[in-house]
Amino acid sequence: MKIDVILGLQWGDEGKGKIVDYLAERYDVVARFQGGPNAGHTLVFDGKKYVLHTIPSGVFRSNLINLIGNGVVIDPITFERELQNLDAAEVDYKERLFVSQKAHLILPTHRLLDAANEVAKGKSKIGSTLRGIGPTYMDRTGRNGLRIGDINRPDFKERYDRLKQKHLSILTSLPQVDFDLEGEEKKWFASMERLREIPQVNSEYYVNRCLRNGKRILAEGAQGSMLDVDFGTYPFVTSSNTVTAGVCIGLGVSPDKIGEVIGITKAYCTRVGSGPFPSELHDEIGELLRKEGHEFGATTGRPRRCGWIDLPQLKYTIMLNGVTQLVLTKIDVLNIFKELQVGVSYIIDGQETEEVPYEIQDDLRMKYESYAGWEQSLAGIHEFDNLPDTAKAYIYALEKELAVPITMVSTGPDRVELLLRPMG
Ligand code: GDP
Ligand code: IMO
Ligand code: MG
Repeated sequence: MKIDVILGLQWGDEGKGKIVDYLAERYDVVARFQGGPNAGHTLVFDGKKYVLHTIPSGVFRSNLINLIGNGVVIDPITFERELQNLDAAEVDYKERLFVSQKAHLILPTHRLLDAANEVAKGKSKIGSTLRGIGPTYMDRTGRNGLRIGDINRPDFKERYDRLKQKHLSILTSLPQVDFDLEGEEKKWFASMERLREIPQVNSEYYVNRCLRNGKRILAEGAQGSMLDVDFGTYPFVTSSNTVTAGVCIGLGVSPDKIGEVIGITKAYCTRVGSGPFPSELHDEIGELLRKEGHEFGATTGRPRRCGWIDLPQLKYTIMLNGVTQLVLTKIDVLNIFKELQVGVSYIIDGQETEEVPYEIQDDLRMKYESYAGWEQSLAGIHEFDNLPDTAKAYIYALEKELAVPITMVSTGPDRVELLLRPMG
């Protein structure tokens, strides 16, 4: 068997949670391979909304195994809160939720460092979610990190103290920020007890054994390809590899095991935090997109920046990920517009190009093509063929340009608001 992948092709929040939750039914295992509580994946079904940060979006489908892979960074405090939400929703995750021994731990001082680093950067701050992601991945690469497997060691507390001391000495050279370290540490150690109850696995063996035994695995990406630490709009990125290659590193599977790569894009585009965004709208249309799309961060509640869909950007991330199918989400948010714009190329120094440049400067201009809107609600449409002709024309035009089949179109937040287009 091969492992299928779902990931975001823009700057995150494309609707990955919804699509993973929908597709999970077809799989035996859903696995997260990177990111951490910076992610906020929203699921809506039976009139209820759930937001997951660390736990895979397959958890609401009974019988399905959910695995947190080695590439993920875990904060016991957020994790415990997620478990409490699952308990409240009466989801039985026992024996269905596993965590890799090699996943790294986010310490309270990682969060403190994240905050202090952002203050130190001043105007050029990343706009981090302040969940400690950057400092934790730095300790992973710097070979200082604490891993889930370490929590069983008799000297865990000493290892914790050593790393904390290291952080405290770095913090002396950074601006002071308000942070109740003692209180956060107390919570952290208390939450650790819940984390200890989750079965730890040698996940690379686990995943490969599942594949050998014919189990179907879906890898769930967090963030989006434009936030990839190598290929995104650096330095305004996250600290992990969000592209398909990250699946191999974050779960321990070889590249030949990758199957379908399902790329998700909104029918427009959003970004939260700082950094370049070529098709961003600073006008009332941007405001309308934010309002209609309820574009406020699922993790931090910050308003998301909004703009039109950007084809050169999508062609870039389709290339990086080897996308085999596309999912177009939030098409209903465009219902109110008489005319839609699609970004087709960049003008840089008077030259037209489709290539995402090394650095996206403020003087980059986006060239657009217009499409007719449909100006009607899509509620009650359950078949792709029943979409208004102008909506279909918009979708066909995107599909032709992107040269990858759009196999699913999402028309609302609910699990059932999804139009399937069988391939072939
Ligand atoms: P993720 O991080 O990629 O899982 O996405 P988020 O959950 O952060 O943000 C997507 C938001 O859009 C959530 O509030 C979803 O409930 C919502 N959503 C998903 N698909 C659709 C859709 O087709 N239409 C509308 N209107 N909302 C959607
Ligand atoms: P999901 O999985 C949108 C953004 C932050 C910031 C940058 C770095 O819900 O799509 P970090 O906390 O990782 O150091 O922040 O990345 N960011 C996201 N934006 N969706 C996300 O996750 C994000 N995770 C991080 O806003 O600009
Ligand atoms: Mg999100």
